[in-house]
Amino acid sequence: MWRSNVLSAQTGGVPVLILREGSGRSGGRDAQRNNIMAARAIAEAIKSALGPKGMDKMLVDSSGDVTITSDGRTILDKMDIEHPAAKMMVEVAKTQDAEVGDGTTTSVILAGELLGKAEDLINKGVHPTVIVEGYIKAADKALETLENIAIPVKPAGKEFLKKVAVTSMASKLVSENKEQLAEIAVEAVLHVARKVEQDYTVDLDDIMVEKKPGESMSETRLIEGLVLDKEVVHSGMPKRVEKAKIALLESALEIKKTEFDAKINIERPEQIESFLREEEDVLKALVEKIVTSGTNVVVCQKGVDDMVQHFLARKGILAVQRVKKSDMEKLAMATGGKPITNLENLSKSDLGFAELVEERKIGDDKMTFVEGCKNPRSVAILIRGADKRFLDEAERSIHDALCVVRDVVQVPKIVAGGGAPEMEIARALRGYAETLPGREQLAIRSCSEAMEIVPLTLGENAGLDPIDLLLELRTRHEKGEKWAGVDVFRGIIKDMRELGVYEPLAVKKQTIKSATEAATMILRVDDVIASGKMKAPPMPPGGMPGGGYGGMPPGY
Ligand SMILES: Nc1ncnc2c1ncn2[C@@H]1O[C@H](COP(=O)(O)OP(=O)(O)OP(=O)(O)O)[C@@H](O)[C@H]1O
Ligand SMILES: [Mg+2]
Repeated sequence: MWRSNVLSAQTGGVPVLILREGSGRSGGRDAQRNNIMAARAIAEAIKSALGPKGMDKMLVDSSGDVTITSDGRTILDKMDIEHPAAKMMVEVAKTQDAEVGDGTTTSVILAGELLGKAEDLINKGVHPTVIVEGYIKAADKALETLENIAIPVKPAGKEFLKKVAVTSMASKLVSENKEQLAEIAVEAVLHVARKVEQDYTVDLDDIMVEKKPGESMSETRLIEGLVLDKEVVHSGMPKRVEKAKIALLESALEIKKTEFDAKINIERPEQIESFLREEEDVLKALVEKIVTSGTNVVVCQKGVDDMVQHFLARKGILAVQRVKKSDMEKLAMATGGKPITNLENLSKSDLGFAELVEERKIGDDKMTFVEGCKNPRSVAILIRGADKRFLDEAERSIHDALCVVRDVVQVPKIVAGGGAPEMEIARALRGYAETLPGREQLAIRSCSEAMEIVPLTLGENAGLDPIDLLLELRTRHEKGEKWAGVDVFRGIIKDMRELGVYEPLAVKKQTIKSATEAATMILRVDDVIASGKMKAPPMPPGGMPGGGYGGMPPGY
């Protein structure tokens, strides 16, 4: 029940208030019910985004910025959520994204369903602790089942890597170009993969992703090198330098401005002339320093003075300025150059190397390409597309594709998708439940039913009848068709291997882990104590004063 300010004790009939005025507390069943409802509301909200037939969401933030996406994590990120249990669902998506990069929608839907089934059990009188224990056992069994059915592949085998990437993009706005983008993602990841004994490791930070409005998505390219979203600073400079020796400067190429306004009294015209000449000499010396080091390309993190630009141009040196710090780091890695703060220290050994540095016109802008770097591992993906929002979604989808390819390169095992693995887990759990005594069996059975939400939602989003779908799937899995899943395009049940719908084992395992963790964490809570700063906590049905819990509507 929600009571205000009631964490109190009775001493000799006088209540001692422990919580500050305005604090609220809900305990027992009410706390549980509220939390479950809030978490399920989140799962319900993103259900329609699952799968290739899922819909996109348009999210408008407080400043009016619009995002269009079907990426579970992004949807939840952009929603202004305040209910603590609902926020935990956002965390599920974040964990999923951080660990494996895909499957965020699935994990949240699964967590919501686990909670829904748990609520049914609680209503029947099963204690939440029993449910939690059952769910943990079920998750272990589910992970074991996944391991058993997983298909081993070659870590650097392009065929399956591409299929996995295509599947991850099938549900996105970019699905029309999924084949081409998948190829780019596979090439990029294999380019940066490092082999350590028998295993591969991939650091996705090695892959630079840039986007530029204009042209169509099919013009998206993989570049063996780096791309800087900067143009050459001076029209007199060369636009193309072969065998580039690159100086990476972290400080500005200009005369430092004094912190205070200084006044100089000039009486004769010669004085101003000599003053300006002095300044010019200092700048010339800077350029001379660069020239003597053998540099022919300057990349500066800060600004380059107009006069320095002019002198550099005269020496035939190409320069770009105001390059992002993260790009400077990538350049250092790619070209083998050392970023320099003080030009005095610049020497030949600090210079990076690339076969070619060239400014090219991309759309309405100019970008600088650094190709044939000393470190052949550096690659960049330059995404093209008509509209900024489309480009943003394309970047997120390519991120998912890169992540799933990395997952398989690192752990070379895959499963077919379309809800098939979830159905297989459900089948295994039904069998497992039989072996356990008492109420735990109920929890395992609930978990088994909850798994079916994935094929069910995929089917529902494709307009299929849920009951027919589920019955046929169950029958076919019982018959041993372990890869039977939902062919959302033709509205039938099919062996997902024939459709080439594959996902990394790592992603499927993580969805189970993240969903179970969130569900059990929420189920374990039986007391919510909200400080006075929060709005009045929600009231369970039964006539207590109203009020939403932050962003959630009353009743949540
Ligand atoms: N051609 C297909 N036919 C049937 N199911 C498919 C097909 N392609 C993908 N799927 C399924 O769609 C689901 C993935 O959908 P989606 O990418 O929208 O969600 P997610 O991966 O859980 O979350 P997110 O991508 O937002 O992080 C998986 O279960 C996958 O097997
Ligand atoms: Mg996905």
